Amino acid sequence: MRTSLLFPEAASTAAWHVDLLYFFLLAVAGFFSTLIAVLIIYFAIKYRRRSAHEIGEKPKTNLLLEATWTAIPLVITLIVFVWGAAIFFANTHPPDGTLDIYVVGKQWMWKFQHLDGQREIDELHIPVDRDIRIIATSEDVIHDFFVPAFRVKTDVVPGRYVTLWFHPTRTGRYRLFCAEYCGTKHSGMTGEVIVMSPPDYQAWLSGGQAQESLTDTGSRLFGALACNTCHRADTQGRGPALEGVFGSEVKLQSGETVIADEGYVRESILNPRAKVVGGYQPIMPTFQGQVSEEQLLALVEYVKSLHAGKAGQSR
Ligand code: CUA
Repeated sequence: MRTSLLFPEAASTAAWHVDLLYFFLLAVAGFFSTLIAVLIIYFAIKYRRRSAHEIGEKPKTNLLLEATWTAIPLVITLIVFVWGAAIFFANTHPPDGTLDIYVVGKQWMWKFQHLDGQREIDELHIPVDRDIRIIATSEDVIHDFFVPAFRVKTDVVPGRYVTLWFHPTRTGRYRLFCAEYCGTKHSGMTGEVIVMSPPDYQAWLSGGQAQESLTDTGSRLFGALACNTCHRADTQGRGPALEGVFGSEVKLQSGETVIADEGYVRESILNPRAKVVGGYQPIMPTFQGQVSEEQLLALVEYVKSLHAGKAGQSR
């Protein structure tokens, strides 16, 4: 699809799925609008009043006709529903092995954090032909991450992580917008996604000063905040050992189980009493107000990096 003033470029694998459904809806709406308009004009002429004292006939009912014009729209709306749900499902379930990038929205900028440590503002460099997963949160109000060329869009909500994924298919520069009114400079909260060939991307990654990886930053914080005094790998700590926890099922005191994902780790740092692990006391203090969103991301990445049986890695 060529770029046009009315239509964004298609630069992701999801794009043509979304466009096809869009054109289907446009075609259905166009067909029925035309049909109805033509019939209105036709019937208006055919059944016009011919003399001043003409009395109309009683309306007749035709059950078959009624059933038909109920069934056809039903079938069409069901097709749209199933088709739309399938696209929604595919677009909200990232495949394995994605390249993860953290995003923090803030009045009025987009802050990107790569796992290797690179940080960017209002610019995001990614390689072409990779599955990219965006894990986003907001520091203040609700923003909305929207890249028309990839046909992806999600509200970025404070206090939680939202994820979104896409697979860019073409190199180039694509506009990024905030699509949720977030204050006086909302319209200026834009940026660019730069999709690069793998060699260009590698060159970009290795350019600039050497960066501390997000995991290392998190590891440093883990020590600085004294998390490591209670969360010890030897299970002798007052808090649960975190090795191998990420991605696993955690049994809570309440008897429920939760999957330890990014959102769970984040919540457990900010609101430790919300979901206490079974067998432990709710003694952990909150770190609300002591760690920034960026520091939280680093801590989450550090917890993610702690694999079972690698006790020596934690500091
Ligand atoms: Cu951020 Cu609108």
